[in-house]
Amino acid sequence: MNLTDAVENHDAATDPDVDTDVLVVGMGPMGATTGLALATLGVRVQMITMFPWTANTPRAHITSQRAMEVLRDLGVEDDVRRIGTPWDQMGDCVIATSLTGVEIARMPSWGTGDERHGDYLRHSPCTYLDVQQPQLEPILIGAAASRGAALKFNTEFLSLEDQGDRVAVTTRDRLTGEISVVHSRFVVGADGARSKVAEQAGLPFEGHTARGGHVYTQFRADLTQLVAHRPSVLHYFFNPAVGYGEIGLGLLRAVKPWTEWIAGWGFDPTLGDPDMTTEAVTAKIRLLVGDPSLAVDVMRTYTWYVNQQFATENSRGRVFCGGDATHRHPPSSGLGLNTSVQDGHNLAWKLAYVVKGLADEHLLATYSDERVPVARQIVLRANQSRLDYQAVRDTFDTSGEEGSDPAQNAAARLLEPTVEGAQRRARLSDALRLKDLEWNAEGVEKNIHYVSGAVIPDGSALPPDADSELLHVPTTRPGAKLPHVWLTDETGRRFSTLDVVGQGRFTVVTGLTGAAWSEAVRNLKKDWVEVAVFGETGLHDPYFTWHRLREIDEAGALLVRPDGYIAWRHAAAVRSVSEAEKLLQIALDSILTGRPAATC
Ligand code: FDA
Repeated sequence: MNLTDAVENHDAATDPDVDTDVLVVGMGPMGATTGLALATLGVRVQMITMFPWTANTPRAHITSQRAMEVLRDLGVEDDVRRIGTPWDQMGDCVIATSLTGVEIARMPSWGTGDERHGDYLRHSPCTYLDVQQPQLEPILIGAAASRGAALKFNTEFLSLEDQGDRVAVTTRDRLTGEISVVHSRFVVGADGARSKVAEQAGLPFEGHTARGGHVYTQFRADLTQLVAHRPSVLHYFFNPAVGYGEIGLGLLRAVKPWTEWIAGWGFDPTLGDPDMTTEAVTAKIRLLVGDPSLAVDVMRTYTWYVNQQFATENSRGRVFCGGDATHRHPPSSGLGLNTSVQDGHNLAWKLAYVVKGLADEHLLATYSDERVPVARQIVLRANQSRLDYQAVRDTFDTSGEEGSDPAQNAAARLLEPTVEGAQRRARLSDALRLKDLEWNAEGVEKNIHYVSGAVIPDGSALPPDADSELLHVPTTRPGAKLPHVWLTDETGRRFSTLDVVGQGRFTVVTGLTGAAWSEAVRNLKKDWVEVAVFGETGLHDPYFTWHRLREIDEAGALLVRPDGYIAWRHAAAVRSVSEAEKLLQIALDSILTGRPAATC
């Protein structure tokens, strides 16, 4: 069966009592990506959100290369690049006593530093970007709507009942109060950290919530003179008057360089609500900037809480959850939106293949198997990144004469030409190295190795350091993402190996001597399986990077999934086209239906 037949058969078999194939609850990064990917793959999808529009506070901004690769696959990368602050304006992260005060240290971040920039450039066709969540979400849901998704605002999820072959979801129209029931074949819970869908599905969680609190206040002030010559979207300030909790530093984050900002500081939630009056937050902002008369236009002030919790299963029956609904953690390391986008990308192609009758529900079980370990890792990483500030702060000696400024004392002590001063500087240097695991954790972002029924292991071990949190090690081992390499077309124009795969289809990747695989793919007659011969004209490997990275013979093959991850590989040439055909069929059956692939 090919993709077009599958759609036709599916439409013919559509149950008139089912309103939609997939109902997505939530239009944040998880829901918007899932809805967009499903609509792109031609699945009937309804997206609902309880609010009149998308996120109204900046929230996520650091957008990783891996998330951008997902957006590239979904055809919206250029739209997102147009609204983002470019990569070269994002880092270094700065630690100072205030924006006008003593600069204590700079931390190259998000791969912008000289030491790591080449790694990041080598491993992705995309750049990091600083994108404000309220600007990103409309791009995603706008594209989803233009590709056929049905969007409903002011529509609150109330409850669900999994009826075995469909799910009945009760919603309330928040404008009219009207209660409705929608029947869908599958439900995606993308309703954020207080997910009712996850709760009602009965997903089990590990961890705790609200360990600490943070105030965030968004404001306008023109700080161009202080920042433009040393661009950074994140400044941290050591000043005991604004530093509390695990990070213990105040924060200034650029929303619109360099005139709109967020100021942030910790508070102890056990002591009740913090003072969020305009007077109180303006005083803190002025302390962070170090200008007691700074003109500040406070736009809004809100709080968020430090969670360390993840679901140990992401699905129950016909209900699948992702994003903050399944992983709850602080913003340190910038992992929330970036992981949510990848959850959605992982889930959408699986739902699409099942809805279209190309796979059975075995494939859906792999969503939880693949994404729970990622959730566990990022929840622990984000929390550890907060705790690691302790080592930095421990090097600050604030003691001094009565009435003196503790932040100035700490800065002065770090410059002391004494043995103690040298020891402090050595400790600070080590502590900043530890912070690389927050600011340059390329391995956390890119070293994902799925183990599930949608991956067929080949018995090989992970390459050395491939589980590093810091460094990315590209590999074609099943479970890893296809490595990015620049290829060139007939005109010499560069494009990525990632541009050749994805877009809802499986791709068999082989080399010039792998003609048997090409013929086998043609014989399979499935329009959702394509072949790509890296090295041939149009897919030229002019730098020979693919040649060095592929880890299989030129005549071997990789089977790459619609989400760009490698499902299976055959290291050597096959003896015949029929052998290639048989091997591919067994591999596809195993991935899509769970039939054993022992002979693969
Ligand atoms: P999200 O909470 O965004 O969306 C939930 C959706 O569900 C909304 O559309 C809501 O209306 C809807 N909804 C909720 N309940 C509903 C109901 N009952 N019925 C109907 N609809 C309902 N991440 C990152 O990668 N990089 C970063 O730099 C940062 N920075 C950052 C800073 C701050 C201050 C915060 C608080 C968070 C971040 N994050 C981040 C994290 C990021 O914001 C977060 O991980 C994502 O928004 C999660 O996306 P979701 O779509 O899962 O939930």
